[in-house]
Amino acid sequence: MRPVNLKTRIFLDGGDPSETKEIIGRLGFLDGQTTNPTLISKNPAARRRIEQGKKFSKEEVLDFYRDVVLEISSLLPRGSISVEVYADASTKAEEMLQEGREMFSWIPNAQIKFPTISEGLKAAEQALSHGLRVNMTLCFTQEQAAAVYAATKGAKKGAVFVSPFIGRLDDKGENGMDLIYNIIGMYREGDGHVEVLTASVRSIDHLLYALKLGSDIVTAPFGILREWGDRGLPVPGDEYSYDTGSLKAIPIKDIALTKDWSAYDISHGLTDKGLERFSSDWNSLIA
Ligand code: G3P
Repeated sequence: MRPVNLKTRIFLDGGDPSETKEIIGRLGFLDGQTTNPTLISKNPAARRRIEQGKKFSKEEVLDFYRDVVLEISSLLPRGSISVEVYADASTKAEEMLQEGREMFSWIPNAQIKFPTISEGLKAAEQALSHGLRVNMTLCFTQEQAAAVYAATKGAKKGAVFVSPFIGRLDDKGENGMDLIYNIIGMYREGDGHVEVLTASVRSIDHLLYALKLGSDIVTAPFGILREWGDRGLPVPGDEYSYDTGSLKAIPIKDIALTKDWSAYDISHGLTDKGLERFSSDWNSLIA
């Protein structure tokens, strides 16, 4: 059952509905799920098909994604389900918006993921005006989170998530959890319309520290949620301290949230790399 002192919403990060089912059984609750092109490419039914040499057509792969999302949504009818548009470095905002609108029609509880790049932010602005909910993904800096805030100003609470990817910063020797601390601190000066979704969680300590920091949402892979369940769903208090090991601190910056989104420097190498990986994993499914 959901611990009474748990304020953060817990999402599963994955593309396999059988994991969703098992986690709901193990934890006794689950608040939502995030998917992405890489996770869908790892779905066991998709893998079997590819191993048999039967790649998908462009239409078939979207139908497959829709079927997976429909099944997850039926398991989590009151949860939020993030569905990601296709984007590579040349994808235009209009294309992302069109695909996002289609994906939003699949289920009643979709949150559409757009990358935190200029075209993604343009698409998100438009998407919100069409009544979609968005999750801005591949966020690696406080400036990107400020741009998400500015681009989505006026949106209703619950309509905008930002997903800082902490594990990929750790991979580079930087303390990804600092980014969560910094964004939460920066957003305290704002109106609260963007919710922080801690993503790219790789360890139970990422999860526990995100709970302690008061992240609005944490998404974690199956193995980490299972471990959290096996440990009895601990919610850390003041006694908990996160061991940063040899990771380099990411200092907090004093960034005003009042600028136009295009005034922030939103470039980051890991965002570009992330786009490449998502698009190539997706394309690997297509004949
Ligand atoms: O939630 C984002 C996540 O799927 C990315 O995780 O482990 O590939 O960095 P990872």
